[in-house]
Amino acid sequence: MKIKTSKVAVVGCGLVGSSTAFSLVTQGVCDEILMIDINEERALGEVLDLRDTIKYLDRNVKVRTASYADCSDVDIIVITAGAPPQKGQTRLDTLEVSAKIVKTIVDPVMASGFDGIFIVVSNPVDIIAHYVYKLSGLPKNQVIGTGSSLDTSRLQNFIAELVNVDPRSVYAYSMGEHGDSQMVPWSTVTVAGKSFNDIIQDNKDLVGEVDLDEIVKKTTREGWEIYNRKGTTYYGIATACAGIIKAILYDENRIIPVSTLLEGEYGETDVFAGVPTILNRTGAADILEIHMTDEELDKFHQSVEILREYTEKMHTPD
Ligand code: LAC
Repeated sequence: MKIKTSKVAVVGCGLVGSSTAFSLVTQGVCDEILMIDINEERALGEVLDLRDTIKYLDRNVKVRTASYADCSDVDIIVITAGAPPQKGQTRLDTLEVSAKIVKTIVDPVMASGFDGIFIVVSNPVDIIAHYVYKLSGLPKNQVIGTGSSLDTSRLQNFIAELVNVDPRSVYAYSMGEHGDSQMVPWSTVTVAGKSFNDIIQDNKDLVGEVDLDEIVKKTTREGWEIYNRKGTTYYGIATACAGIIKAILYDENRIIPVSTLLEGEYGETDVFAGVPTILNRTGAADILEIHMTDEELDKFHQSVEILREYTEKMHTPD
């Protein structure tokens, strides 16, 4: 008899990868974490530092360095390696370099016999996730991009601030591209079940005139607000990623807007985009098709169109 251990591999031990591992260790999400980086010394440095936390935590999560060949029985592989945008670049501008790096990861991982779930964090995340799906040949439920999960937490923060409630009591999604064209289906936003439109109408003295487009812009810009001050972002994305991993390993059926393959949902096919998705032990188990107004659906299509354009530019494997 062998009790199965839950294993997560983190590929890329930069700030996003190491913060993801830190989040998994401090929350005690899995049994074991494998840290992989082309810079093996960096990976070892992260392992040693992470191990020093165990004494003061509730669980002894085992952390070690590993190689792609060790991935055969890993449950989840998080890909964070990529090319961060330089000043003035958008996430889309980093596509070519990130794709090259990601290919050098996915090929040897698949050669190891891996049959788990990929979570892609590397930007531009929707297009890279689609590329990993094609390269790996895995079923679509086993390839997930972090997508608009992070934008959604930013959006919920802004709405919560406006109406002075806990962001976790806000139900709102950012959808489409994790990038400049993302959109918000405002007609579906609620706070504790009350529609946001009604809240605005009923609380004019508290909220004043609300510019919804400005909130979307702020949500979209937030990554850059952080980037311009500290050169990169990592706590937000790492924690979103840990939340996705928890939903999968604990079989939660939690709905998180991640990037997943659309096959007719919202009238779109053969493209990865951020949509509310049910996550459980099978990975991206199902997509929730929320009802949008025609205008919202148009905005969603516009965002997806940009993703499709870039996706089609990518080389698919021979
Ligand atoms: C951000 C990066 C992860 O938006 O794209 O913070």
